[in-house]
Amino acid sequence: MKAVHVNSYGGPEVLDIKDGLDSPSPEENQIQVEMHAASVNPFDVKVVSGMFKDHMPLKFPTIPGGDYAGVVSSLGEGVTDFKVGDKVYGSANVVNGGLGSYAEVSVANVKNSAHMPSTISFEDAAALSLVGSSAVQALEQHIKLKKGQNILIHGGAGGIGHLAIQLAKSIGAYVATTVSTDDVDYAKSLGADEVIDYKKQNFEEELSNFDAVYDLVGGETTEKSFKVLKRGGVLVSMLGAPNEELARKHGVTAVGQGTKTETENLTRVAELVDAGKIKVNVDKVFQLDAVKDAFAYQEENSPRGKVVLKIK
Ligand SMILES: NC(=O)c1ccc[n+]([C@@H]2O[C@H](COP(=O)([O-])OP(=O)(O)OC[C@H]3O[C@@H](n4cnc5c(N)ncnc54)[C@H](OP(=O)(O)O)[C@@H]3O)[C@@H](O)[C@H]2O)c1
Repeated sequence: MKAVHVNSYGGPEVLDIKDGLDSPSPEENQIQVEMHAASVNPFDVKVVSGMFKDHMPLKFPTIPGGDYAGVVSSLGEGVTDFKVGDKVYGSANVVNGGLGSYAEVSVANVKNSAHMPSTISFEDAAALSLVGSSAVQALEQHIKLKKGQNILIHGGAGGIGHLAIQLAKSIGAYVATTVSTDDVDYAKSLGADEVIDYKKQNFEEELSNFDAVYDLVGGETTEKSFKVLKRGGVLVSMLGAPNEELARKHGVTAVGQGTKTETENLTRVAELVDAGKIKVNVDKVFQLDAVKDAFAYQEENSPRGKVVLKIK
């Protein structure tokens, strides 16, 4: 079988295609999956670049990628939730004990897998795992967003943002979002009530008294977001733990989220997709052999929604 191999940290140039590899076997509570599609996340690019090498070192050679969609081809010991032939999706990331999704055959933990949404393609399902789980965990579990509340979503045209806008609207919230100039109309088409062009406007001067901020950008954007919240509001950042002192000063709850790409979140995402409440936008599909181009595209083109690798 064929897979993407990485032997050292770096940019897209360190991604090699290797053929003639043996298919890996699943261990206890794991499934072997015939991969149909995988997706590219900023996280995958960062892991391969070596950004996390001190606390999350890779063992080379490694197969990159987490998000996957495919068909169960073999069961490890103790697996009762899936059978051979099931269409599944989730994360096969090596950082959570899988064997990497950029491969024709790989292995994922049962706890990082779920039955695929029944109404969409493998490409769409692979695009959803991490970003869908992120949006659900933030809006439903941390923020507990309710009808009539208002939320600011930073980075609304990206992978997580475009789903978070749709999820917040389906809950019945008022949604403001920050995007770059080219994405203003796109964000409106997703249902955002108020779209702020972060290249031309300062969101902290336009908005106040918000119930929640979902931060997909980090840095200065996180710090300035405290001003937009009402006392008792909630800020969830995907880019590390927000400043506790600022949170206390503004009387808000601030959470640094680590997304769990796990069965419960994945099943909830599938439910929302099949109910027509959220729809993933696949910006571009690359063949597995073109993985270098896919990484470069993710980095250089600010995709609307997601970049996907078609494997089968
Ligand atoms: N903590 C976790 O467990 C976890 C899990 C998943 C993702 N993440 C992180 O969360 C972040 C978002 O993920 P993603 O998949 O949604 O990334 P993405 O697809 O790259 O989307 C990020 C979006 O933010 C926009 N952006 C950049 N600077 C901005 C600014 N100053 N104001 C408003 N928007 C801005 C980008 O648009 P332009 O380029 O056009 O400006 C892009 O559309 C990434 O950094 C990712 O690594 C963390």
